[in-house]
Amino acid sequence: MSKPILISGIQPTGRLHLGNYLGALKNFVELQNSGKYDCYFFIADYHSLTIDFDERQKMGEVFGVARAYLASGINPKKSTVFTQSHVPESTELAWIFNALTPLGEAERMTQFKEKREQKLGTAVGLLTYPLLMAADILLYDAKFVPVGEDQLQHLELTRDIARRFNNRFGETFVEPQAVLTKTPRVMSLNDPGKKMSKSLPEGCLFLDDSPKDIEKKIKRAVTDSESEVKYDPGNKTGVSNLLLIYEALAGKTTKELEKKYAGKGYGQLKGDLAAVTIEALKPFRESKMPDKKLKSVLDTGAKKAKKLAAAKMKEVKNRLGLLN
Ligand code: AMP
Ligand code: TRP
Repeated sequence: MSKPILISGIQPTGRLHLGNYLGALKNFVELQNSGKYDCYFFIADYHSLTIDFDERQKMGEVFGVARAYLASGINPKKSTVFTQSHVPESTELAWIFNALTPLGEAERMTQFKEKREQKLGTAVGLLTYPLLMAADILLYDAKFVPVGEDQLQHLELTRDIARRFNNRFGETFVEPQAVLTKTPRVMSLNDPGKKMSKSLPEGCLFLDDSPKDIEKKIKRAVTDSESEVKYDPGNKTGVSNLLLIYEALAGKTTKELEKKYAGKGYGQLKGDLAAVTIEALKPFRESKMPDKKLKSVLDTGAKKAKKLAAAKMKEVKNRLGLLN
């Protein structure tokens, strides 16, 4: 029997950070290595056109995500790795979803509203972005989608789109489900009320940060005025965030960590966490895979992805009564 399909993508918008890694990428690798899924991982370059578009950086950033994928342990012999724009069926299907989805459903998306408020661009694509994401997923009959918490609403919309299409035009799409890590929302180090993101660079640990910067950022991480190392996300958001990061990187539970640091204070916790992080992120700092090699991996992946996508698109057009 064939394995269930699992898919996810990351946008090539600047450097990847610890939130991307612990919320998504680390899980990609574990799910791949479980051997239970037929995995597809792509670089969402069309999505990233909706924000801070800089054509000189774009290609480098696509390779940057591809390099991080491979450095993290994604193995192109086991998983299909490709670039979103190499499979034009995705944008074709997205148009169909644009035509069939009520405007109100897109307008309800929290991320759209946030980007609007923060004036992160004025493109129509900010609104229709989740429909392209739905296409990326439904095109491949993906059953599982590993993402961070901020993508759950988009995934719910994807399920609605699939269900509505199936009801109206006949069974065509698989309804996907999210796969979350234990750290689906890594918080900013210097503002633990907010999620870690590259727009708050001070509190953001980039995967290719130097050991010195990692140490500096972790030592400066905002905690609280007490000194007890305790996992209590309601009251001690800063320390709890550090403990969750520690747990995810070192494989020790927060309970074990509380015991280890009982009576020891935050300084020691931060020093040890810095050392653990510096070690865990070594593959990202040291990866030197040349663009040419990455390009060849992406070309091979696109060929495989396109096969599935083309067959699905044909089916969709038939369902809609469009000429094939
Ligand atoms: P993006 O950079 O927006 O393409 O995000 C790539 C992946 O990282 C998505 O699955 C996000 O949900 C996840 N992600 C981004 N920021 C965080 C964070 N602070 N904590 C956990 N996951 C995150
Ligand atoms: N929207 C996702 C993000 O910003 C990236 C993405 C695009 C994605 N298409 C996808 C994630 C399909 C999972 C599946 O993080």
